Amino acid sequence: MAETTPIIFLDDISVIFRTRTGSIFHPNLVTAVNHLTLKLMPGETIGIVGESGCGKSTTANVMCGLQSPTEGKVFFKGEDVTKRTADLRKKIGRVVSVVFQNPATALNPRMSVHDQLLDPLIVHSVGSDDEREARIQELFGLVGLPSSAMYVLPGQLSGGQRQRVAIARALSLNPDVIIADEPTSALDVSVRAQILNLLTDLKAELGLAMVFISHDIQTERYISDRIIVMNHGQIMEQGTAEQVFNDPQDEYTRTLLAAAPSLLHPKLGD
Ligand SMILES: Nc1ncnc2c1ncn2[C@@H]1O[C@H](COP(=O)(O)OP(=O)(O)OP(=O)(O)O)[C@@H](O)[C@H]1O
Ligand SMILES: [Mg+2]
Repeated sequence: MAETTPIIFLDDISVIFRTRTGSIFHPNLVTAVNHLTLKLMPGETIGIVGESGCGKSTTANVMCGLQSPTEGKVFFKGEDVTKRTADLRKKIGRVVSVVFQNPATALNPRMSVHDQLLDPLIVHSVGSDDEREARIQELFGLVGLPSSAMYVLPGQLSGGQRQRVAIARALSLNPDVIIADEPTSALDVSVRAQILNLLTDLKAELGLAMVFISHDIQTERYISDRIIVMNHGQIMEQGTAEQVFNDPQDEYTRTLLAAAPSLLHPKLGD
């Protein structure tokens, strides 16, 4: 068999932001991602580590189609999606799902849990009414939510339950990839492990690929098949968790690991 096609292929991408601090004639430019090439294979979990501002979220946003690269190309399952049309956007939505840091802002506060799970199914015209209801029940089971949480508003749930709803919503269209950008750092410490275990179980059960971004190097080690160390928008080093943590080749990785205790806790206001 020929080499498997990556689910996501970032081909030499750069993302350059224009910040508000410059003038029209002399804009200040920030290179958030600098000539980065990355392939995510089916079923693989990539962990991205690096200090604040190194471009992790920007890379994740390009991977889920929220951000266009300034340079370079983006491929989904071999298809060039760099220039995004409405049609391609919809397609991307079915391949890649995102779980954000804060479930409180990711969910609509005025919509019942049931309706938030129904919404993507309707937008993508999935199944009949009955099939959609069955799918919502199934999603509830998958993420371990009690049926009492079905018709309430997100505000009536605990933080951990809200993140379960966000994960259920992310799974609703059977994506190939979940991009999780610090999915546990806004949660109470006591439920972080539960959400991590849920994500690990789901990826095994559903054969999902995952991109996992975290400040917590121990978490990355636990969840990832491959670790990518980023600095200033570039990949400094990558390898299995074993290789990167036990035998770091790059000077920056060594510095990062030496600072690990301070990376265990997300910074205030993050
Ligand atoms: N919309 C934007 N406009 C201007 N600059 C931006 C924008 N988004 C990000 N940046 C800048 O791009 C760089 C990378 O930001 P990014 O959010 O990707 O970092 P990060 O690695 O996710 O950081 P953190 O760990 O704090 O979440 C930073 O210098 C940031 O200030
Ligand atoms: Mg970020």
